[in-house]
Amino acid sequence: MKLPAKLPAGSSLLPLAQTLQIIANPTGFLEDCAKRYGDRFTLRVLGANSPPVVFFSHPDDIQAIFTTLADRLELGKVTHPFRPLTGDQSLIMQDGARHQQQRQLLMPALHGESLQNCGELICQITQQTDWPLGAVIPVQAQMLEISLELILRVVFGLQPGQRYLQLKALLHRLLERVNSPLYSVQFFLPPLQRDWGSHSPWGSFLRLRQQIDALLYAEIRERRAQPPGQDILSMLLAARDLEGQPLSDVELRDQLMTLLLLGHETTASGLTWVFYWLHQQPDVLARLQAELDRADSSPAALAQLPYLSAVCKEALRIYPIALIAQPRCVKQALRLAGYEFEPGAVLVPCIYLAHRRAEAYPDAERFRPERFLEAKLSPYEYLPFGGGSRSCIGMALALFEMKLILATLLKRYELRPAQPLRPLKRPARRGITFVPPGDLQLQVVGLRSGASCLAKPAG
Ligand code: HEM
Repeated sequence: MKLPAKLPAGSSLLPLAQTLQIIANPTGFLEDCAKRYGDRFTLRVLGANSPPVVFFSHPDDIQAIFTTLADRLELGKVTHPFRPLTGDQSLIMQDGARHQQQRQLLMPALHGESLQNCGELICQITQQTDWPLGAVIPVQAQMLEISLELILRVVFGLQPGQRYLQLKALLHRLLERVNSPLYSVQFFLPPLQRDWGSHSPWGSFLRLRQQIDALLYAEIRERRAQPPGQDILSMLLAARDLEGQPLSDVELRDQLMTLLLLGHETTASGLTWVFYWLHQQPDVLARLQAELDRADSSPAALAQLPYLSAVCKEALRIYPIALIAQPRCVKQALRLAGYEFEPGAVLVPCIYLAHRRAEAYPDAERFRPERFLEAKLSPYEYLPFGGGSRSCIGMALALFEMKLILATLLKRYELRPAQPLRPLKRPARRGITFVPPGDLQLQVVGLRSGASCLAKPAG
């Protein structure tokens, strides 16, 4: 591998020490590097033999990576750790034309009318939370519960029943394991992926996956014979590729697992952050409550509320769920920001640092939703969902879910922190996302009589 003579300056620690730093304290390490080296810097954070991994936070560089340079970049091996979960046919395992073709198949199911159709269901599922007065709510766990139900109903189109309950329990077990640090190490280290029987970590993962797959394939077979519903699986069943062919069972299964893996924890973590900030800053909560009290309660109207949108956006800015967009490998030499990058170098748009740039975000450390009402930011300054041809395909669904779930819960419950919230030092890693440290717990201190978003809009 021929590497460029001159890369942007960066840490001189041994690659292994840099790798450990980014694992142990990613936000601190990134901030420190940005202070020392500026808008772009080179790290070696992919183990002892790490290639140069160059981090970018300037909007011009991010724009170039997402647009003009995109065809010289590929994901390469970056997504491999997910392969045992998502399978080979998953969107995230593809590059080039096949990737674009798969995105076009998936996109309609996650946007526009399809999305509006699931608004009532999102509210209904959220309404099922039955928190009594005085209850202490573990926020992340509750948001995960709601978000898993939503994926099963809105994405998989499952109806409550035996298979639904079985799949829910199995997926819950699978996702909990994937998120435990010890267990997830196996996904990054193929030599540990050995089936030593049902009690070994990898063996038990394989058996769990087999049980889940059996249920998913049974569902897919049955649904092929049924009239389509309004869920995402129904739309994928009806989709045809460029040759007019439907997706195979394996393709359908792999895409469903991809949407589950990338759509479940992320949305739940986004919501946990919103609850954290609202209770850290009661003035913001009061302004949001006032907006909700005045608003029409239909899902479509709630999704348009300016302050509610600004609150969700600001929560995804200040501590983005993903600190970086997917790293892109250089496959054809390219020039960027005065540097020449050879194949093998890895380019990383750094969402966390882009969201802290003083020129776009004065007083960046402060949670201030108003900034989204006052200024319009470019997609290269504000990018919690990444960008370009690999941007998050669940963005519209995630924001829609976050707003409706939040509005439904705030209209129904008055909540207060169960323990005083301490100032935040750094976020905690949870699986593929970053969440508030410690388990955020809120107590139900009042039941409100606000209109449910299931009620039909007036007029
Ligand atoms: C708050 C919630 C979410 C956040 C913050 C988020 C963030 C992201 C980010 C940063 C990326 C990488 C983009 C890039 O590299 O340019 C991504 C990719 C992706 N996300 Fe999300 N996501 C969220 C919710 C969802 C949901 C609900 C789904 C689906 C149901 C989803 C499905 C995907 C998929 C399939 C990709 C890969 C796209 C591709 O490779 O073409 N995400 N997401």
